[in-house]
Amino acid sequence: MAILEAAHLAKRFGPVTAVHDLSLTVGEGEVAGLLGPNGAGKSTTLHMLLGLITPDAGTITMFGMELARHRIEVLSRVNFAASYVDLPGPLLVQEVLDAFARLYAVRRPAARVAEMIELLELGPLRRRRVMDLSSGQRTRVQLAKALVNAPQLLVLDEPTANLDPDAGDRIRGLLSRVARESGSAMLITSHNMREVERMCDRIHFMAEGRVVAAGSAEELAGRYGAEDLEEVFLKVARG
Ligand SMILES: Nc1ncnc2c1ncn2[C@@H]1O[C@H](COP(=O)(O)OP(=O)(O)OP(=O)(O)O)[C@@H](O)[C@H]1O
Ligand SMILES: [Mg+2]
Repeated sequence: MAILEAAHLAKRFGPVTAVHDLSLTVGEGEVAGLLGPNGAGKSTTLHMLLGLITPDAGTITMFGMELARHRIEVLSRVNFAASYVDLPGPLLVQEVLDAFARLYAVRRPAARVAEMIELLELGPLRRRRVMDLSSGQRTRVQLAKALVNAPQLLVLDEPTANLDPDAGDRIRGLLSRVARESGSAMLITSHNMREVERMCDRIHFMAEGRVVAAGSAEELAGRYGAEDLEEVFLKVARG
């Protein structure tokens, strides 16, 4: 069964058509990638899927329910992380996670938060204010928040953009493990082609608001006569 089905989405901002007739499907347990050049419409697409902005056209169905009609029920089973979303700065890491666990009405919130602190190696940062953290540390708090409700669909907008190579590698491993063990579906944007090759079962390439190619990294490389995803990206982006 498809966890997410977006059909014919469109979004304009004044004269800018950010997304144009975009359709994509994410299956149960699938890690899907959304790639494309700066300004292609990736974040806009994610924001529509998260109900943060309303599409001008098209439908979004998750878990067999239409987002527009079952917003609260659908969104309680989804979560999101992005480096540009600010967590409440004056709160302690522990307080932020407690607050989100309560917001999502997580069962046994204290135990779940403790689990997330362990998983993201946040123990030493528990009593630190979010605003005092480095951007890489904040990313780990964002991911702990994003996993706290054990989402069936996890949406990640450039999850490793601020991380050093070691931290990035560990987070990629962790997310792949979570996907495998919990069966959570994920939809990830990234400009790191090796990350996408390693993590994503299926990749949707966007250009100018549309999905122009989709498939596994190997399928796409084959189709475009490319060595790897980096070369596919350059070929697609340069038309
Ligand atoms: N709130 C907004 N108001 C006006 N234009 C917007 C708004 N949000 C996005 N856009 C425009 O829509 C287009 C798509 O932007 P979007 O952020 O979705 O791209 P992206 O694929 O996520 O790019 P990047 O890789 O740089 O993150 C861009 O031209 C952008 O300027
Ligand atoms: Mg973006």
